[in-house]
Amino acid sequence: MVQRIRKAVFPVGGLGTRFLPATKAMPKEMLPVVDKPLIQYAVEEALAAGIEQIIFVTGRGKSSIEDHFDFSYELQDTLLKRGKLDALTVATEMVNRSGSVAYVRQQEPAGLGHAVWSARHLVGDEPFAILLADDLVMSKQPCIGQLVDVYNETGGNALAVMDVPREHTERYGVLDVGADDGRLAEVKGLVEKPAPSVAPSTLSVIGRYVLLPEVFDILASQEKGAGGEIQLTDAMARMVGSAPFHGLRFEGTRFDCGDKIGFLEATLAHALTRDDLGGDVQALIDGYASLSARRQAG
Ligand code: UTP
Repeated sequence: MVQRIRKAVFPVGGLGTRFLPATKAMPKEMLPVVDKPLIQYAVEEALAAGIEQIIFVTGRGKSSIEDHFDFSYELQDTLLKRGKLDALTVATEMVNRSGSVAYVRQQEPAGLGHAVWSARHLVGDEPFAILLADDLVMSKQPCIGQLVDVYNETGGNALAVMDVPREHTERYGVLDVGADDGRLAEVKGLVEKPAPSVAPSTLSVIGRYVLLPEVFDILASQEKGAGGEIQLTDAMARMVGSAPFHGLRFEGTRFDCGDKIGFLEATLAHALTRDDLGGDVQALIDGYASLSARRQAG
């Protein structure tokens, strides 16, 4: 019998330097895709997959995330007095029951592995999920729910993976692949940000994980890896062989919202699916496309 996945860790302690100056005083995870912050998409994904406890690993300058998931009495009162009941519903729908959201502070942005390790006392001795909000995944079944299914099938670690162009391996943790049925790829090894010439494959890890609690024992050694940071990939690599370990080619589309083009694409893709915006956004895109065609022609 496997243990149920009840807890999800959301590391939001990074500096978000690729989005400066927007992220100077605002967390990257609060950047809105259309009208919803990235972090809310990730939390909704976890809740839809049956996660009950939300653990944010925050840092300095991240208090707006705490405020976002709490009541705002002044705003609610104003909306109520003005009869803006739809807006009131939107402003309060993400407030979870007291006790189901916890925050722990990562004192320095020493890397993703360090952020996850900072949540060890809140997670305890049970398997858990990790979601990086800057990876936005559009899918029928929540991506993290797909990984929970793999964990339930295998009883081991599960990572969401996708094939990337070989010249992009330096941006990802990359799998050394064992048995592979086209859906599940056995993880034989993992390398953080390998150069294309030495990458063991092009199957790369995106920001969704279900891990066994043993990862905390490994992270406790605080060994630094690529970029001088404590890397989650390195700790996961050391778990290979001790329990089943798979990469799942998840169903869905992932947008890298830590990167400007990925963020813009996510905004367009989400706007196009919206009943209230899709038509107008399509007209905008068509307008820009014909303008650029005219420019190229003449
Ligand atoms: P990134 O590698 O995207 O780093 O982190 P970053 O600092 O957020 O952004 P850039 O590269 O400077 O623009 C991936 C995820 O890990 C979290 C980030 O918040 C993000 O969700 N993270 C990273 C931490 O929580 N703590 C860290 O020390 C580093």
